[in-house]
Amino acid sequence: MLAGLAASIPAIPARWLYDLKGSELFDAITRLPSYYPTRTETALLKQVMPEIADAIPDGMAVVEFGAGSAAKTPLLLEAIAPAAYVPVDISGEFLESSAADLRRLFPALPIHPVAADFARPFELPAEVEELPRLGFFPGSTIGNFVPRSATDLLRHFRELLGTGALLLIGMDTVKPVERLLAAYDEPEGVTATFNLNLLERINRELGGDIPLDAFRHEARWNDILSRVEMHLVATRDVSFTIDDRPFTFAAGSSIHTENSHKYERRGARVLLLSGGWTPIAEWTDAGEDFAIVLAEAQPNRFAP
Ligand code: AVJ
Repeated sequence: MLAGLAASIPAIPARWLYDLKGSELFDAITRLPSYYPTRTETALLKQVMPEIADAIPDGMAVVEFGAGSAAKTPLLLEAIAPAAYVPVDISGEFLESSAADLRRLFPALPIHPVAADFARPFELPAEVEELPRLGFFPGSTIGNFVPRSATDLLRHFRELLGTGALLLIGMDTVKPVERLLAAYDEPEGVTATFNLNLLERINRELGGDIPLDAFRHEARWNDILSRVEMHLVATRDVSFTIDDRPFTFAAGSSIHTENSHKYERRGARVLLLSGGWTPIAEWTDAGEDFAIVLAEAQPNRFAP
């Protein structure tokens, strides 16, 4: 983390935003009027779930990357006839509480939580070894990863889930810049608090003395890389220490804290194909604000 902050273009891994307070703030973000992704994806899932379910065979083990969302996961689990559910999340605490909720909703479904960073190698529970697999990766979480890492991640999912597996993935679309930026910098200021919480966390957990009033939240659209970037911009020249290491930021310089990549329809398909997943169906809402793609890990074929 400190290496990123000291880099020539300072950046901190986005997962540092998601401590308990950060996760609660993100939850508040999902309810803001200008933050369209969660609301749009949930409504879309509701609307097209009968079609999605038609494309998914009974008896699959559903492997969700990230602990289940209370709003989205039950929609999938009740529409298909899964043989097991495997939520994978880095936070053991969050994982157990969400698994407990789902056990109440689906008492007959075997649930096997795995506490792991889904971006790193891990093993599936022995109980699902023999089952066909469906990966579930909603929320446009893939957008947090730069395309090179997103490709690695998708390939890792393919290794994990195996040939013949399916992947149901949510991806945010490109739309007018004003709407994109409004979703990441809104009058309520929740996203600003979410971003600045990163500095609070560094002060608390890493022994920093960063003056919070020396940074402000900024959302930027990077058109060539097709992403919204979150930055913390120094409002004045500022020096501080973290664990006795000195850092200096000039007024106007920034710490890059998160990326949220947006994909056109065909771009989304190319990303999936690069990661070893062949798109077989896709759905968007009427405004094309969000896309859900079903893809398959097809066996390698001879290609011309
Ligand atoms: C959880 C990564 C999908 O990129 O839209 C929302 C995170 N950051 N507002 C997103 C986020 C600021 C969100 N993801």
